[in-house]
Amino acid sequence: MNPRPEKQMNSLTNTEADEAHDQQPVRALFQLSCELASRYTEELDAREVVPGAEVLAGLTEFHGPLPLEGTNPEQVIRQLDRVGSPATVASTGGRYFGFVVGGALPVAIAAHWLATAWDQNAGSWALAPGAVELETVAAHWMLEILDLPRDAVVGFVTGSTMGTFSALACARSALLARLNYNVRRRGLAGAPRLSIVVSDEIHPTNLSTLGYLGFGLDDIQHCPTDEQGRIIPKEMPELGPKTIVILQAGNINSGSFDPFEEVCRKAKASGAWVHVDGAFGLWARASTSKRHLTRGIEQADSWSVDGHKWLNLPYDSAIYVCREPEAVQDVFGIDATYLMRNAQRQPNNLVPELSRRSRGVEFWAALKTLGKRGVEDLVDRNCAHARRFAQGLEAAGYEVLNDVVLNQVVFACQDEASTQAALSKIQSSGVTWLGPTTWKERLCMRISVSSWATTQDDVEQALSVMQQAFQREV
Ligand SMILES: Cc1ncc(COP(=O)(O)O)c(C=O)c1O
Repeated sequence: MNPRPEKQMNSLTNTEADEAHDQQPVRALFQLSCELASRYTEELDAREVVPGAEVLAGLTEFHGPLPLEGTNPEQVIRQLDRVGSPATVASTGGRYFGFVVGGALPVAIAAHWLATAWDQNAGSWALAPGAVELETVAAHWMLEILDLPRDAVVGFVTGSTMGTFSALACARSALLARLNYNVRRRGLAGAPRLSIVVSDEIHPTNLSTLGYLGFGLDDIQHCPTDEQGRIIPKEMPELGPKTIVILQAGNINSGSFDPFEEVCRKAKASGAWVHVDGAFGLWARASTSKRHLTRGIEQADSWSVDGHKWLNLPYDSAIYVCREPEAVQDVFGIDATYLMRNAQRQPNNLVPELSRRSRGVEFWAALKTLGKRGVEDLVDRNCAHARRFAQGLEAAGYEVLNDVVLNQVVFACQDEASTQAALSKIQSSGVTWLGPTTWKERLCMRISVSSWATTQDDVEQALSVMQQAFQREV
């Protein structure tokens, strides 16, 4: 059946609306955007990794009063490219090692574009059957590749921060429900007080999410960690049915992993809830050679992991996983008369948002393209690059301060001034970029290798800059 009957088509001709919907300008605009994006990507390797002052000064061109009249869309896209593209940090290139960001797989970008053209509201099956189906498959695949309980709930969110937020909301609901307290109905005032146990190496976004959920800093107990930043189980406070423990898969500096097996065993016996912040480190599960680092992690109750970091999806993309569907329903289940109920996955009942973009499409496309072997190869390659960095840095005279078990390298010169001087040289080289950090109260530099685009040659080029920047003493 023709979805646009003749009559309707005819009635639209010769109107402004019809001109706006003419297929040619849309195609030309999309092709222009695709052409500019392709050129941007192809030229990444030849440009400076971070934009210079002159380029940044050019951003003033975006300013100005809100225009009264519109502008030709082609002109808008061309201006975005001319002024905006050079002002980007080349974090999708192969020589960016700052923070933990990951790049963006070409297929994931392409899937993202297509899904953007679909403009589906992936909160609901009725609005987006295809996108929701892809999300359903992606959820199963994620549980399989991360080897987490296959019947757990998977929610697609913007980042690990929101993943942890969502999971901790479920933890709060579940623990209070076990104490016969329905927090959804009765609110937090008057609820039994829960306590939170984290390591003193916890990523700060976890603390933010606890604040959003109504926990105060006084509710949080910080546990000491060892020389790699792993929580020390025997120094943990007593756990109980009113405790939420947050563990880490992948310390933001050292890449280390908390001892999940021991802590989960203790937590289970006591009735505590364990959440794992696995923003990037949970991907170690996908690698045969790295998987041992996560031993026991499957015993936890909830997990969060980014897609936009190590899976190399475009921003913003992450999931959280929760063992208890009842808690997810209690926290996120939306009851509105106009929402349709059916047997299919209903994403708006799993995450904080009602309307949202279809993140599952990119997860599906990346996992379909890479396969289990491709993901494993990505993780292993990046880890091997990190080891090569560690070896080359030590040979140049730097001190490498962590066990390079994953993709992170923490290193420094002998004194702080030398470290600072070396860092400035590296950052201003244009060839590569990495950031500072404080590790065990010492100013250090930190490398994170998390992009699919990084080659052996990129590593050698960056290493050469780092070797030349080495300062014995300022
Ligand atoms: C260990 C860890 N946890 C949480 C986060 C927050 O993740 P996101 O920025 O995706 O919200 C990060 C980000 O770097 C991280 O490395």
